[in-house]
Amino acid sequence: MKNCNVALIGQKFMGRAHSNAYGQVKRFFNLPIQPALHTIVGRNAKELAAFAARWGYVNKTTSLHEAVMDEAVDLVDIATPNHVHAEPALLALSAGKHVACEKPLAGTLEDARSMRNAARKSRGKTFVWFNYRRCPAVALAHRLVKEKRLGRIYHVRAQYLQSWGGPQTPMLWRFNKKEAGSGAHGDLNAHIVDMARFITGDEITEVNGAIRKTFVKERKDLATGKMKRSSVDDCVLFLASFKQGAVGSFEATRLAHGNHNANKIEINGEKGSLRFNFEDMNWLEFCDASDGAREGGFRRIMCTSAGNHPYAENWWPDAHILGYEHGFTNMAADIMRAIAGRKPEVPLPDFDDAYQTQRVLEAALVSARNRCSIKLQEIR
Ligand SMILES: NC(=O)c1ccc[n+]([C@@H]2O[C@H](COP(=O)([O-])OP(=O)(O)OC[C@H]3O[C@@H](n4cnc5c(N)ncnc54)[C@H](O)[C@@H]3O)[C@@H](O)[C@H]2O)c1
Repeated sequence: MKNCNVALIGQKFMGRAHSNAYGQVKRFFNLPIQPALHTIVGRNAKELAAFAARWGYVNKTTSLHEAVMDEAVDLVDIATPNHVHAEPALLALSAGKHVACEKPLAGTLEDARSMRNAARKSRGKTFVWFNYRRCPAVALAHRLVKEKRLGRIYHVRAQYLQSWGGPQTPMLWRFNKKEAGSGAHGDLNAHIVDMARFITGDEITEVNGAIRKTFVKERKDLATGKMKRSSVDDCVLFLASFKQGAVGSFEATRLAHGNHNANKIEINGEKGSLRFNFEDMNWLEFCDASDGAREGGFRRIMCTSAGNHPYAENWWPDAHILGYEHGFTNMAADIMRAIAGRKPEVPLPDFDDAYQTQRVLEAALVSARNRCSIKLQEIR
Protein backbone atom coordinates (compact mmCIF):
# COMPACT_ATOMS: atom_id res chain seq x y z
CA MET A 1 0.00 0.00 0.00
CA LYS A 2 1.26 3.46 -0.92
CA ASN A 3 2.09 5.92 1.82
CA CYS A 4 1.20 9.59 1.90
CA ASN A 5 4.10 11.33 3.63
CA VAL A 6 2.88 14.06 5.96
CA ALA A 7 4.82 17.11 7.14
CA LEU A 8 2.95 18.62 10.08
CA ILE A 9 3.62 22.21 11.15
CA GLY A 10 2.68 22.99 14.76
CA GLN A 11 2.96 20.61 17.69
CA LYS A 12 0.58 21.74 20.36
CA PHE A 13 -3.21 21.33 20.59
CA MET A 14 -4.01 20.70 16.93
CA GLY A 15 -0.60 19.15 16.32
CA ARG A 16 -1.56 16.43 18.79
CA ALA A 17 -5.10 16.07 17.41
CA HIS A 18 -3.83 15.63 13.84
CA SER A 19 -0.97 13.32 14.80
CA ASN A 20 -3.38 11.14 16.73
CA ALA A 21 -5.72 11.04 13.72
CA TYR A 22 -2.97 10.00 11.28
CA GLY A 23 -1.79 7.34 13.71
CA GLN A 24 -5.26 5.89 14.37
CA VAL A 25 -6.72 6.04 10.89
CA LYS A 26 -4.79 3.08 9.55
CA ARG A 27 -5.96 0.92 12.44
CA PHE A 28 -9.66 1.62 11.97
CA PHE A 29 -10.20 2.37 8.26
CA ASN A 30 -9.44 0.41 5.09
CA LEU A 31 -7.98 3.05 2.83
CA PRO A 32 -6.36 3.18 -0.60
CA ILE A 33 -3.38 5.06 0.88
CA GLN A 34 -2.13 5.51 4.41
CA PRO A 35 -0.61 8.56 6.08
CA ALA A 36 3.01 8.24 7.21
CA LEU A 37 4.33 10.63 9.85
CA HIS A 38 7.30 11.94 7.89
CA THR A 39 8.30 15.30 9.46
CA ILE A 40 7.23 17.42 12.41
CA VAL A 41 7.95 21.16 12.22
CA GLY A 42 8.03 23.53 15.19
CA ARG A 43 9.98 26.36 16.76
CA ASN A 44 11.38 24.69 19.84
CA ALA A 45 14.01 22.05 18.95
CA LYS A 46 13.92 20.41 22.39
CA GLU A 47 10.14 20.03 22.41
CA LEU A 48 10.26 18.77 18.83
CA ALA A 49 12.48 15.83 19.73
CA ALA A 50 10.09 14.73 22.47
CA PHE A 51 7.07 15.21 20.21
CA ALA A 52 8.65 13.24 17.34
CA ALA A 53 9.51 10.38 19.70
CA ARG A 54 6.06 10.29 21.29
CA TRP A 55 4.04 10.38 18.08
CA GLY A 56 6.43 8.52 15.75
CA TYR A 57 7.67 11.20 13.36
CA VAL A 58 10.76 10.10 11.43
CA ASN A 59 12.16 13.62 10.96
CA LYS A 60 11.98 16.88 12.88
CA THR A 61 13.00 20.39 11.92
CA THR A 62 12.59 24.03 12.89
CA SER A 63 12.75 25.02 9.22
CA LEU A 64 9.33 25.31 7.70
CA HIS A 65 10.88 25.81 4.26
CA GLU A 66 13.01 22.67 4.49
CA ALA A 67 10.07 20.50 5.49
CA VAL A 68 7.62 21.86 2.93
CA MET A 69 10.09 21.62 0.04
CA ASP A 70 11.28 18.12 0.91
CA GLU A 71 10.59 16.07 -2.22
CA ALA A 72 9.45 13.09 -0.16
CA VAL A 73 6.60 15.07 1.43
CA ASP A 74 3.17 14.62 -0.20
CA LEU A 75 0.88 16.44 2.24
CA VAL A 76 1.67 19.59 4.22
CA ASP A 77 -0.55 19.92 7.27
CA ILE A 78 -0.77 23.38 8.88
CA ALA A 79 -1.64 23.51 12.60
CA THR A 80 -0.09 26.87 13.52
CA PRO A 81 -1.65 30.16 14.63
CA ASN A 82 -3.69 31.86 11.92
CA HIS A 83 -0.99 34.29 10.72
CA VAL A 84 1.23 31.29 9.89
CA HIS A 85 -1.26 29.62 7.52
CA ALA A 86 -0.62 31.51 4.27
CA GLU A 87 3.17 31.22 4.03
CA PRO A 88 3.48 27.42 4.24
CA ALA A 89 0.29 26.94 2.20
CA LEU A 90 1.53 29.11 -0.68
CA LEU A 91 4.93 27.44 -0.62
CA ALA A 92 3.45 23.94 -0.61
CA LEU A 93 0.92 24.72 -3.33
CA SER A 94 3.62 26.22 -5.55
CA ALA A 95 5.49 22.91 -5.20
CA GLY A 96 2.32 21.01 -6.16
CA LYS A 97 1.85 19.43 -2.72
CA HIS A 98 -1.46 18.68 -1.10
CA VAL A 99 -2.29 20.98 1.83
CA ALA A 100 -4.51 20.44 4.87
CA CYS A 101 -4.93 23.66 6.84
CA GLU A 102 -6.52 24.40 10.19
CA LYS A 103 -9.47 26.77 10.39
CA PRO A 104 -10.10 29.62 9.96
CA LEU A 105 -8.46 29.48 6.54
CA ALA A 106 -6.45 32.54 7.61
CA GLY A 107 -6.48 35.45 10.03
CA THR A 108 -7.30 37.96 7.29
CA LEU A 109 -9.43 37.92 4.16
CA GLU A 110 -6.38 38.95 2.11
CA ASP A 111 -4.36 35.92 3.27
CA ALA A 112 -7.35 33.67 2.71
CA ARG A 113 -7.84 35.03 -0.81
CA SER A 114 -4.20 34.48 -1.74
CA MET A 115 -4.49 30.89 -0.47
CA ARG A 116 -7.70 30.32 -2.44
CA ASN A 117 -6.09 31.71 -5.60
CA ALA A 118 -2.95 29.60 -5.16
CA ALA A 119 -5.06 26.49 -4.63
CA ARG A 120 -6.92 27.12 -7.88
CA LYS A 121 -3.62 27.16 -9.78
CA SER A 122 -1.93 24.24 -8.03
CA ARG A 123 -2.13 20.54 -8.88
CA GLY A 124 -2.19 19.91 -5.11
CA LYS A 125 -5.52 19.25 -3.39
CA THR A 126 -6.58 21.36 -0.42
CA PHE A 127 -8.50 20.57 2.77
CA VAL A 128 -9.57 22.66 5.77
CA TRP A 129 -10.01 21.08 9.20
CA PHE A 130 -13.65 21.90 9.84
CA ASN A 131 -13.68 18.74 11.91
CA TYR A 132 -17.21 19.09 13.30
CA ARG A 133 -18.61 18.14 9.89
CA ARG A 134 -17.24 14.71 10.64
CA CYS A 135 -19.18 14.08 13.84
CA PRO A 136 -21.57 11.36 12.69
CA ALA A 137 -24.54 13.36 14.05
CA VAL A 138 -23.62 16.46 12.01
CA ALA A 139 -23.01 14.37 8.89
CA LEU A 140 -26.41 12.73 9.41
CA ALA A 141 -28.03 16.18 9.69
CA HIS A 142 -26.45 17.08 6.33
CA ARG A 143 -27.87 13.87 4.79
CA LEU A 144 -31.37 14.40 6.21
CA VAL A 145 -31.51 17.93 4.76
CA LYS A 146 -30.26 16.62 1.41
CA GLU A 147 -33.00 13.98 1.47
CA LYS A 148 -35.47 16.87 1.95
CA ARG A 149 -36.65 15.62 5.35
CA LEU A 150 -36.85 19.24 6.54
CA GLY A 151 -38.30 20.64 3.30
CA ARG A 152 -37.86 24.34 2.90
CA ILE A 153 -35.62 25.76 5.60
CA TYR A 154 -36.87 28.75 7.60
CA HIS A 155 -34.40 29.17 10.48
CA VAL A 156 -30.75 28.49 11.21
CA ARG A 157 -29.87 29.20 14.86
CA ALA A 158 -26.23 28.64 15.69
CA GLN A 159 -24.17 29.35 18.79
CA TYR A 160 -20.67 28.42 19.82
CA LEU A 161 -20.28 29.16 23.53
CA GLN A 162 -17.17 28.61 25.63
CA SER A 163 -16.13 29.97 29.02
CA TRP A 164 -12.33 29.91 29.22
CA GLY A 165 -11.67 33.50 28.09
CA GLY A 166 -12.26 35.50 31.28
CA PRO A 167 -9.90 38.16 32.76
CA GLN A 168 -7.86 35.46 34.52
CA THR A 169 -6.77 33.98 31.19
CA PRO A 170 -3.34 35.38 30.29
CA MET A 171 -2.25 36.91 27.02
CA LEU A 172 -2.05 34.23 24.30
CA TRP A 173 -1.69 34.45 20.51
CA ARG A 174 -5.45 34.04 20.38
CA PHE A 175 -5.87 37.55 21.89
CA ASN A 176 -3.44 39.25 19.52
CA LYS A 177 -5.01 40.49 16.27
CA LYS A 178 -1.72 40.23 14.34
CA GLU A 179 -1.54 36.51 15.05
CA ALA A 180 -5.17 35.48 15.33
CA GLY A 181 -6.93 37.94 12.99
CA SER A 182 -9.94 37.94 15.29
CA GLY A 183 -11.00 36.45 18.61
CA ALA A 184 -14.03 34.25 19.26
CA HIS A 185 -15.24 35.21 15.80
CA GLY A 186 -12.60 33.49 13.63
CA ASP A 187 -12.13 30.79 16.21
CA LEU A 188 -15.73 29.79 16.88
CA ASN A 189 -18.06 31.51 14.42
CA ALA A 190 -15.88 29.99 11.67
CA HIS A 191 -17.02 26.54 12.81
CA ILE A 192 -20.72 27.33 13.02
CA VAL A 193 -20.80 29.24 9.73
CA ASP A 194 -19.17 26.22 8.07
CA MET A 195 -21.59 23.89 9.83
CA ALA A 196 -24.62 25.95 8.77
CA ARG A 197 -23.44 26.06 5.13
CA PHE A 198 -22.62 22.34 5.21
CA ILE A 199 -25.87 21.12 6.76
CA THR A 200 -28.19 23.37 4.75
CA GLY A 201 -26.23 23.20 1.48
CA ASP A 202 -27.14 26.87 1.17
CA GLU A 203 -25.07 30.06 1.07
CA ILE A 204 -25.31 33.22 3.15
CA THR A 205 -25.96 36.18 0.87
CA GLU A 206 -26.25 38.99 3.39
CA VAL A 207 -25.24 39.85 6.94
CA ASN A 208 -28.12 41.92 8.29
CA GLY A 209 -26.45 43.30 11.39
CA ALA A 210 -23.71 42.42 13.85
CA ILE A 211 -22.28 43.25 17.28
CA ARG A 212 -18.59 42.86 18.10
CA LYS A 213 -17.44 43.39 21.67
CA THR A 214 -14.22 43.16 23.69
CA PHE A 215 -15.05 42.93 27.42
CA VAL A 216 -11.60 42.04 28.70
CA LYS A 217 -9.36 44.82 27.43
CA GLU A 218 -6.06 43.77 29.02
CA ARG A 219 -4.44 40.47 29.89
CA LYS A 220 -1.31 39.51 31.75
CA ASP A 221 1.70 38.73 29.58
CA LEU A 222 3.28 35.77 31.35
CA ALA A 223 6.70 36.47 29.79
CA THR A 224 6.99 40.00 31.24
CA GLY A 225 4.42 40.01 34.02
CA LYS A 226 2.95 43.21 32.52
CA MET A 227 -0.57 43.81 31.29
CA LYS A 228 -0.99 43.82 27.51
CA ARG A 229 -3.88 45.04 25.36
CA SER A 230 -6.17 42.35 23.97
CA SER A 231 -6.78 43.41 20.37
CA VAL A 232 -9.49 40.94 19.40
CA ASP A 233 -13.21 40.48 20.07
CA ASP A 234 -14.44 38.40 22.98
CA CYS A 235 -17.76 37.87 21.21
CA VAL A 236 -19.42 38.50 17.86
CA LEU A 237 -23.14 38.05 17.18
CA PHE A 238 -24.75 38.49 13.78
CA LEU A 239 -27.91 37.94 11.76
CA ALA A 240 -27.82 36.57 8.24
CA SER A 241 -29.96 35.78 5.20
CA PHE A 242 -29.54 32.69 3.04
CA LYS A 243 -29.89 32.45 -0.74
CA GLN A 244 -32.91 30.14 -0.57
CA GLY A 245 -34.75 32.38 1.87
CA ALA A 246 -33.82 31.11 5.34
CA VAL A 247 -32.79 33.51 8.10
CA GLY A 248 -29.96 32.79 10.51
CA SER A 249 -28.46 33.94 13.79
CA PHE A 250 -24.88 33.26 14.89
CA GLU A 251 -23.20 33.88 18.22
CA ALA A 252 -19.64 33.13 19.37
CA THR A 253 -18.20 33.88 22.80
CA ARG A 254 -15.59 32.62 25.23
CA LEU A 255 -17.33 34.28 28.18
CA ALA A 256 -20.39 32.08 28.70
CA HIS A 257 -19.90 30.40 32.10
CA GLY A 258 -21.42 26.95 32.26
CA ASN A 259 -20.84 26.36 28.57
CA HIS A 260 -17.63 24.47 28.04
CA ASN A 261 -17.68 23.64 24.36
CA ALA A 262 -21.30 24.27 23.43
CA ASN A 263 -21.13 24.21 19.64
CA LYS A 264 -24.84 24.20 18.88
CA ILE A 265 -27.06 24.45 15.85
CA GLU A 266 -30.81 24.18 15.34
CA ILE A 267 -32.48 24.20 11.96
CA ASN A 268 -36.23 24.57 11.47
CA GLY A 269 -37.88 23.69 8.18
CA GLU A 270 -41.41 23.27 6.86
CA LYS A 271 -41.36 19.50 7.55
CA GLY A 272 -39.33 19.34 10.74
CA SER A 273 -36.33 20.44 12.78
CA LEU A 274 -32.82 19.29 13.62
CA ARG A 275 -30.75 20.07 16.70
CA PHE A 276 -27.10 19.33 17.59
CA ASN A 277 -24.91 20.23 20.57
CA PHE A 278 -21.28 19.12 20.57
CA GLU A 279 -21.36 18.67 24.36
CA ASP A 280 -23.67 15.74 23.53
CA MET A 281 -21.96 14.89 20.27
CA ASN A 282 -23.20 11.36 19.72
CA TRP A 283 -26.80 12.51 19.47
CA LEU A 284 -28.77 14.26 16.77
CA GLU A 285 -32.21 15.53 17.71
CA PHE A 286 -34.78 15.32 14.95
CA CYS A 287 -38.41 16.41 14.92
CA ASP A 288 -40.50 15.08 12.05
CA ALA A 289 -43.59 17.30 11.89
CA SER A 290 -45.57 14.46 10.27
CA ASP A 291 -45.49 12.63 13.64
CA GLY A 292 -48.42 14.92 14.50
CA ALA A 293 -49.40 16.65 17.70
CA ARG A 294 -50.05 13.51 19.77
CA GLU A 295 -46.58 11.95 19.58
CA GLY A 296 -44.60 14.68 17.92
CA GLY A 297 -41.49 16.33 19.28
CA PHE A 298 -37.75 15.91 19.15
CA ARG A 299 -36.48 12.33 19.05
CA ARG A 300 -32.90 11.67 20.09
CA ILE A 301 -30.92 9.61 17.59
CA MET A 302 -27.73 8.03 18.89
CA CYS A 303 -25.53 8.15 15.79
CA THR A 304 -23.44 5.03 16.35
CA SER A 305 -25.18 2.42 14.21
CA ALA A 306 -23.03 0.78 11.51
CA GLY A 307 -24.62 1.06 8.09
CA ASN A 308 -27.01 3.75 9.29
CA HIS A 309 -24.73 6.50 10.50
CA PRO A 310 -21.69 7.99 8.74
CA TYR A 311 -18.34 6.47 9.81
CA ALA A 312 -19.99 4.25 12.46
CA GLU A 313 -18.90 0.94 10.85
CA ASN A 314 -15.25 1.93 11.38
CA TRP A 315 -15.55 2.22 15.13
CA TRP A 316 -17.18 0.25 17.92
CA PRO A 317 -20.35 -1.82 18.31
CA ASP A 318 -23.54 0.24 18.36
CA ALA A 319 -23.89 2.62 21.35
CA HIS A 320 -20.18 2.48 22.26
CA ILE A 321 -19.86 6.17 21.84
CA LEU A 322 -17.32 8.42 20.12
CA GLY A 323 -15.40 11.48 21.34
CA TYR A 324 -13.62 14.60 20.13
CA GLU A 325 -10.69 12.84 18.47
CA HIS A 326 -12.85 10.63 16.26
CA GLY A 327 -13.91 13.62 14.14
CA PHE A 328 -10.26 14.24 13.29
CA THR A 329 -9.62 10.58 12.49
CA ASN A 330 -12.72 10.50 10.27
CA MET A 331 -11.35 13.56 8.51
CA ALA A 332 -7.89 12.01 8.06
CA ALA A 333 -9.62 9.04 6.42
CA ASP A 334 -11.51 11.28 4.02
CA ILE A 335 -8.36 13.26 3.19
CA MET A 336 -6.59 10.01 2.28
CA ARG A 337 -9.53 8.91 0.12
CA ALA A 338 -9.61 12.28 -1.66
CA ILE A 339 -5.84 12.27 -2.31
CA ALA A 340 -6.21 8.77 -3.79
CA GLY A 341 -8.96 10.07 -6.09
CA ARG A 342 -11.81 8.36 -4.19
CA LYS A 343 -14.98 9.94 -2.84
CA PRO A 344 -14.87 10.99 0.82
CA GLU A 345 -17.59 9.61 3.09
CA VAL A 346 -18.69 13.19 3.82
CA PRO A 347 -17.89 16.23 1.61
CA LEU A 348 -14.57 17.87 2.46
CA PRO A 349 -14.11 21.65 2.54
CA ASP A 350 -11.29 22.84 0.27
CA PHE A 351 -9.75 26.33 0.20
CA ASP A 352 -12.46 27.60 -2.14
CA ASP A 353 -15.16 26.39 0.23
CA ALA A 354 -13.40 27.76 3.35
CA TYR A 355 -12.96 31.08 1.56
CA GLN A 356 -16.76 31.40 1.39
CA THR A 357 -16.89 30.99 5.18
CA GLN A 358 -14.12 33.58 5.51
CA ARG A 359 -16.17 36.05 3.40
CA VAL A 360 -19.12 35.62 5.77
CA LEU A 361 -16.85 36.25 8.78
CA GLU A 362 -15.49 39.38 7.11
CA ALA A 363 -19.00 40.61 6.24
CA ALA A 364 -19.98 40.30 9.91
CA LEU A 365 -16.97 42.37 11.00
CA VAL A 366 -17.71 45.08 8.43
CA SER A 367 -21.36 45.06 9.46
CA ALA A 368 -20.43 45.50 13.14
CA ARG A 369 -17.97 48.29 12.33
CA ASN A 370 -20.28 50.24 10.00
CA ARG A 371 -23.53 49.37 11.80
CA CYS A 372 -25.27 48.35 8.60
CA SER A 373 -26.23 45.34 6.46
CA ILE A 374 -23.55 43.95 4.19
CA LYS A 375 -24.30 42.00 1.05
CA LEU A 376 -21.80 39.20 0.45
CA GLN A 377 -21.33 40.49 -3.10
CA GLU A 378 -19.51 43.44 -1.51
CA ILE A 379 -16.94 41.10 0.06
CA ARG A 380 -14.79 39.70 -2.73
N1 LIG B 1 -10.39 22.48 14.27
C1 LIG B 1 -10.51 22.87 15.52
O1 LIG B 1 -11.47 22.59 16.19
C2 LIG B 1 -9.44 23.73 16.13
C3 LIG B 1 -9.26 23.77 17.53
C4 LIG B 1 -8.22 24.55 18.02
C5 LIG B 1 -7.42 25.28 17.17
N2 LIG B 1 -7.65 25.25 15.83
C6 LIG B 1 -6.80 26.00 14.91
O2 LIG B 1 -5.53 25.35 14.83
C7 LIG B 1 -4.49 26.31 14.68
C8 LIG B 1 -3.49 26.12 15.81
O3 LIG B 1 -4.15 26.26 17.04
P1 LIG B 1 -3.68 25.46 18.35
O4 LIG B 1 -4.81 25.53 19.30
O5 LIG B 1 -3.12 24.14 17.98
O6 LIG B 1 -2.53 26.45 18.84
P2 LIG B 1 -1.37 26.12 19.87
O7 LIG B 1 -0.93 27.42 20.42
O8 LIG B 1 -1.78 25.03 20.80
O9 LIG B 1 -0.20 25.53 18.92
C9 LIG B 1 0.38 26.29 17.92
C10 LIG B 1 1.67 25.60 17.46
O10 LIG B 1 2.20 26.33 16.35
C11 LIG B 1 3.62 26.52 16.57
N3 LIG B 1 4.05 27.70 15.83
C12 LIG B 1 3.72 29.00 16.03
N4 LIG B 1 4.33 29.78 15.12
C13 LIG B 1 5.09 28.96 14.35
C14 LIG B 1 5.96 29.18 13.26
N5 LIG B 1 6.19 30.40 12.80
N6 LIG B 1 6.54 28.10 12.69
C15 LIG B 1 6.34 26.86 13.17
N7 LIG B 1 5.51 26.59 14.21
C16 LIG B 1 4.90 27.64 14.79
C17 LIG B 1 3.73 26.66 18.08
O11 LIG B 1 5.06 26.46 18.49
C18 LIG B 1 2.77 25.55 18.52
O12 LIG B 1 3.40 24.29 18.45
C19 LIG B 1 -5.17 27.67 14.66
O13 LIG B 1 -5.38 28.05 13.32
C20 LIG B 1 -6.50 27.42 15.35
O14 LIG B 1 -7.51 28.32 14.94
C21 LIG B 1 -8.63 24.49 15.32
